[in-house]
Amino acid sequence: MKTPRALILGATGLVGHYCWRKWSERPGWTARGTWHKHALGGLDKLDIQDEDGTRALIREVKPSLVLIAAANPFVDYCERHPEETRAINVDATVAAAAAASEAGATPVFLSSDYVFDGSVAPYGEGDAVSALNHYGRQKIDAERGVARLGADHVIARISGVFGWELSRKNAVLQMVDRSRAGKPTHGATDVRANPTYAANLPDVLAELWEGGRRGTYHVAGAEELTRYDFFLEVARAWELDESLIHKSTLAKMHSPANRPLHSSLRTDKVRSQVKSPLWGAAKALAHMRAEEKTWLAYAEYVRPADPQPRAGA
Ligand SMILES: NC(=O)c1ccc[n+]([C@@H]2O[C@H](COP(=O)([O-])OP(=O)(O)OC[C@H]3O[C@@H](n4cnc5c(N)ncnc54)[C@H](OP(=O)(O)O)[C@@H]3O)[C@@H](O)[C@H]2O)c1
Repeated sequence: MKTPRALILGATGLVGHYCWRKWSERPGWTARGTWHKHALGGLDKLDIQDEDGTRALIREVKPSLVLIAAANPFVDYCERHPEETRAINVDATVAAAAAASEAGATPVFLSSDYVFDGSVAPYGEGDAVSALNHYGRQKIDAERGVARLGADHVIARISGVFGWELSRKNAVLQMVDRSRAGKPTHGATDVRANPTYAANLPDVLAELWEGGRRGTYHVAGAEELTRYDFFLEVARAWELDESLIHKSTLAKMHSPANRPLHSSLRTDKVRSQVKSPLWGAAKALAHMRAEEKTWLAYAEYVRPADPQPRAGA
């Protein structure tokens, strides 16, 4: 096998950054990555909506695989701005995957459990898709566009991803920050899924690619939990005040986008084909907490706090 050369589009984001870091250190691998609005040393600036620029970068890097982690993953924003977000989540995504295929690289596309409506979970890879919101429909259309390019692709459907990230936007970091400030968190007792630890994804995706596994895979955490129970696990792992976690329901959240109540993914297929683990919540959260000091030092090193915050920041 040739030395695997990975190109990560969206290497400043939650999933992309874990993949960029871990693949850069993976024996025999090299990794390049891109940023869009949040500059980071060592990465290339790229807007994947610039199709010529994306194609040029792919031709220059000559990757063996291109992880498309660049997206607008904000479900409620997608609901309010369907055309704007479709342009990146579908059009630019499929164009980037096509550019990867043309260059002989495997496009690896990150899709979502939100391609399902939640009526018959847990879902296997072959189950019919039927999304409840624009974001989910965009993912379905992007999956179809990527699959049409040929057999050499990986579509990884992931779910409720958490981990260390530069923007501290995922549910775990939001909850930890709120709880430390004495503020409450509301967790739906009727929303169930399998939260996925971002730190597990690089090894699983790399192993799939190295093993010649292609097609659609559900790549999600080992355990199904309600949102409320997941927040309790976070409180336990971080030794936070559990009384700050309040029971709620999806309907009471009044989100602009409808969401599936039960979107758990069956992961038998990926588990039978890769050795790298997908942890349950308690183990993943304990690991994440143990990495807090190391992560904060790293984050400060790669992106020092702006001494003059921008207006409105
Ligand atoms: N997080 C989850 O729970 C979850 C669940 C299911 C599926 N997914 C999917 O997994 C993928 C990664 O999600 P994530 O949570 O890691 O996202 P994220 O943290 O929001 O990261 C998004 C990345 O995309 C980049 N980006 C945004 N617009 C871009 C553009 N026009 N051109 C180039 N790059 C652009 C961002 O760069 P800058 O920061 O530099 O602007 C960032 O690196 C997405 O497709 C998402 O839909 C995520």
